[in-house]
Amino acid sequence: MCGIVGYIGDSTARSILMDGLNKLEYRGYDSAGIALYNQGQVEVYKQVGKLENLEQVITDEKPQGTVGVGHTRWATHGRPSVPNSHPHTGCDDDFVVVHNGIIENYLQLKEELQEGEHLFTSETDTEVIVHLIEEEYRGNLESAVRRVVAKLEGSYAFVAMAVQEPQKLVAVRQDSPLIIGLKDQEYFVASDIPAVLKHTKDVYILDDEEMAVVTQNGVELSTVEGETVDKEVFTVDWDPGMAEKSGYEHFMLKEIHEQPEALRRAISGRLSNDNSQVIFDELNLSPAEIEKYEKIYIVACGTAYHSGIVAKYLLEDLVEIPVEVDIASEFRYRDPLLDENTLAIVVSQSGETADTLAALREAKSKGAQVLAIGNVVGSTIPREADQVVYIHAGPEIAVASTKAYINMLMVFYLLSIYFAQLKGTISATRTEELIQALKNLPNQVAQLIKDSEDTIAKLADSYVDQNSAFFIGRGVDYAIALEGALKLKEISYIYAEAYAAGELKHGTLALIEEDVPVIAIATQESIMDKMFSNIQEVQAREAHVTGVVLAGNEEVTRSLDRVIEIPSTEEILTSILTVVPLQLLAYYVALKRGCDIDQPRNLAKSVTVE
Ligand code: M6R
Repeated sequence: MCGIVGYIGDSTARSILMDGLNKLEYRGYDSAGIALYNQGQVEVYKQVGKLENLEQVITDEKPQGTVGVGHTRWATHGRPSVPNSHPHTGCDDDFVVVHNGIIENYLQLKEELQEGEHLFTSETDTEVIVHLIEEEYRGNLESAVRRVVAKLEGSYAFVAMAVQEPQKLVAVRQDSPLIIGLKDQEYFVASDIPAVLKHTKDVYILDDEEMAVVTQNGVELSTVEGETVDKEVFTVDWDPGMAEKSGYEHFMLKEIHEQPEALRRAISGRLSNDNSQVIFDELNLSPAEIEKYEKIYIVACGTAYHSGIVAKYLLEDLVEIPVEVDIASEFRYRDPLLDENTLAIVVSQSGETADTLAALREAKSKGAQVLAIGNVVGSTIPREADQVVYIHAGPEIAVASTKAYINMLMVFYLLSIYFAQLKGTISATRTEELIQALKNLPNQVAQLIKDSEDTIAKLADSYVDQNSAFFIGRGVDYAIALEGALKLKEISYIYAEAYAAGELKHGTLALIEEDVPVIAIATQESIMDKMFSNIQEVQAREAHVTGVVLAGNEEVTRSLDRVIEIPSTEEILTSILTVVPLQLLAYYVALKRGCDIDQPRNLAKSVTVE
């Protein structure tokens, strides 16, 4: 949560910082601010709400300067207001701090500082950092920051500036991401790669308890204790255009349309030349190890968690190992039963989700092997896991996850086949059939978007004025119902719930009445009769039923009020296709309701606090 940027170089910092904040706005958009050093003083500009509000108070001339920091906030301590916005200054405006994370002992520190006559102007935890720097400053900013860090408890990444040392930024990381972008005599500090991509692909990724002292002469890396750190420059393989809207009205729509290409990247290099084998060169897993695992835990949050529910069906079916899927925020508080015979798979697009990271650490502490499925290369979760598989979705900017989800599914498909090959639970013929079906999916998704987008945009009209919607499905279709409901509620603010279709009659059916919208996902041939009965149960209560069904299923199609057809594929692989119309439906309903699609209220893309 919260996005941090910093710049030092010979260009005007204002536009570089504003552009960086624009790329980081997905991390929080309750308020934004920048601070620039100019002619012996620091000028601070802050506004509540989105970045566009800040843009309105900044002109082509103001503020001036070639050194500065910026921040876009997702409020934790203190409501969104100008005093609570970052950058924060101390009592006499000589120091400036932008911060991401939570200082857990801030109340105690604040009381001590107030006793020492420090005057606080905000309700934030962050403000203690800048007052502590004021207290500890003796002519050298990095030394002051080291003494301050020793007093802080919690998770944080922050960047500090001092008026007395105007050509210097000091950045520290503890449990919140921070990178340093490197260009000739220009340096950038940021919470995430998209903020610097326009300027450079070369970055240092800070680890916990590391500090960067950034001046125009270069970057000095050290631990917070003061030991020099020698770190390799990491070269990002993302294209700057990947973090732009490229003519689409919203990032979400662009990312939905990018899905065929994203899927191709997820498959690329992971099939043998003759398409008879799945290959994961990056994994170091022997048949004996797979044989050893008595249980697999999949742990994640939100959409990533939903990909795990699909994976449970795949892994249990193909690899014959029991799978439990857990919500990361619950996992470590219930003393889960893991040991060295357990494989824990943690899934996270951002690689920074605090609950998922905590679950990873919990699993490791109990002796389980941890495999991370991630998207952002170099992010914390992949770096702390024993093994990593990247989904290669490219940067995902919209808060509502689409292409990352579909690529998580693809990676789970590939992993399930790979594990099954190692364990000997899949025949060569079956492997080839599944691989062939997987290879067809990118083109099928492209065709599906082309064929269904206009129809779904029209269908959205009938949802615009609804207060609620129900998604039902069985088996893998239930997992997709969960994701479809999350997409709709997240961006359109319509109350949407997903139910295993057979469970309706145990309570929820009481909510179904005339014209209540029900979206029935019915692609599982082996349980189609049961699903058909459930559709009839809601129709008997006069619900308005839209079905997502396999093309050509006349019997089910005839009974539905509206139909969205998906192309045929292997029964266990339908989920990648089924979710696409649900993403489009959520998008067009939200669009027609005038919602803020890429930045839905109260949310942020990367949830780095518990
Ligand atoms: O970065 P992660 O995959 O760990 O994020 C997990 C969730 O916060 C995320 O999937 C969230 O549910 C999405 N906004 C849903 O669209």
